[in-house]
Amino acid sequence: MMESSYNIIDLIDKKIKGLAYSNDEINWVINNIDTIPDFQLSAWVTAVFIKGLDKKETAELTRAMAYSGHVLTLKRHDDEFNPGNPEALISNRGFVDKHSTGGVGDKVSLVLSPVLAALGFKVSKFSGGSLGYTGGTADKLNSIPGFSLDLDIKRFEAQIKDVGIALASQTEDYAPADKKIYALRDKTATVESVPLIASSVMSKKIAAGADTILIDLKCGSGAFMKDKSSAKALKKEILSIGSELKLDVRVLISNMDQPLGYAVGNALEVQEAIEILDGKLKNDTYDLVLELASQLVPKSEVIDSIESGKAAVKFDEWISAQGGDLKKFTETYKEIPNLDFIATEDAYMKSISCEMIGNIANRLALKTDATKDYSAGVIFHKKIGEPIKKGEKVFTVYASQEKENLENAMAQIVEAIYFSHSKTSLPKLIFK
Ligand code: URA
Repeated sequence: MMESSYNIIDLIDKKIKGLAYSNDEINWVINNIDTIPDFQLSAWVTAVFIKGLDKKETAELTRAMAYSGHVLTLKRHDDEFNPGNPEALISNRGFVDKHSTGGVGDKVSLVLSPVLAALGFKVSKFSGGSLGYTGGTADKLNSIPGFSLDLDIKRFEAQIKDVGIALASQTEDYAPADKKIYALRDKTATVESVPLIASSVMSKKIAAGADTILIDLKCGSGAFMKDKSSAKALKKEILSIGSELKLDVRVLISNMDQPLGYAVGNALEVQEAIEILDGKLKNDTYDLVLELASQLVPKSEVIDSIESGKAAVKFDEWISAQGGDLKKFTETYKEIPNLDFIATEDAYMKSISCEMIGNIANRLALKTDATKDYSAGVIFHKKIGEPIKKGEKVFTVYASQEKENLENAMAQIVEAIYFSHSKTSLPKLIFK
């Protein structure tokens, strides 16, 4: 069939007038994206940003961007798709792609992936690395000596089959149209649009080809979505794309008003993940892993996969399949130079600028010679709402660097925390 031909000027004009595009028109823009000059594409994106897209347009844009490059088909159960029956997935443990919209101290994937693999799911994930002040799973895993994210598709698929988990760095081949549009949005103040964010995230997930997409949508001072109403709007949009395109999508909105767990920093976060997998730590990271996994299986099974040690064994198998040496990891980070911040009076932590903490940890990890200090970061001993007694440790800064760097980071972290004498309630972890 011959493709219809349109003119980008007419299409910009159509959206400025607030009219909806046909599927053909959306596909024309995406199929011709390399021939449309940046100034016209920016005008098109801006018109879309201001006038919005309806459900059908958003779904078609998502599909078109997903198919603008390579699409991995791992194993699909389209014929069995039944969003009204969550049991269908339970009896049919397929390929799961878990995605976080980005947070501080977010090491959930490190724990959740082996938990799900131990329960019989196949966990496939492309990691794009950190975005701004958030830390990427890829960076955390790079703190493990020998670990490689450089898997070609053949090895990626073989490892999913043999081990049940594979995590590779995102390549240029997937959803290139999203990459182009995202780069322009970044430079034209048009990032914060619910249909554009939803279609951007989902196009990459569709290209990665899983049966089930599990999204941890972060909301709070350390997230893209700062308030509950915008997080809920994004959740609605993502679920609508899922139902328009017949994809099994589960979305949970979780709190990002303080760093997740106690550790922020690459190796420190891997250590926290290992403690949870070893059954030694049950904190908010653990609780969030349970909440996310129990979108797919009963909570009792999730707890058992940790308590029985099966998830920890799966983690070891996964790391060594990608060349990582956990023994060396333990030796390397056994004694990281550190500095404690001690409370000088009784108090509560009332709030934390999560974004500032993320930035401080990222800066501390970046050495002057541009190499990375994977040992750098901070461990919080107290969370918002927990009473702090005079003389107790509030947080500890870590870095294999000069004492001065630790002291500077400590002073900056203090600036990012608001202490109070009045009792503060404990924040909710999940927003309904
Ligand atoms: N992450 C993405 O991949 N795309 C967006 O638009 C925003 C966050």
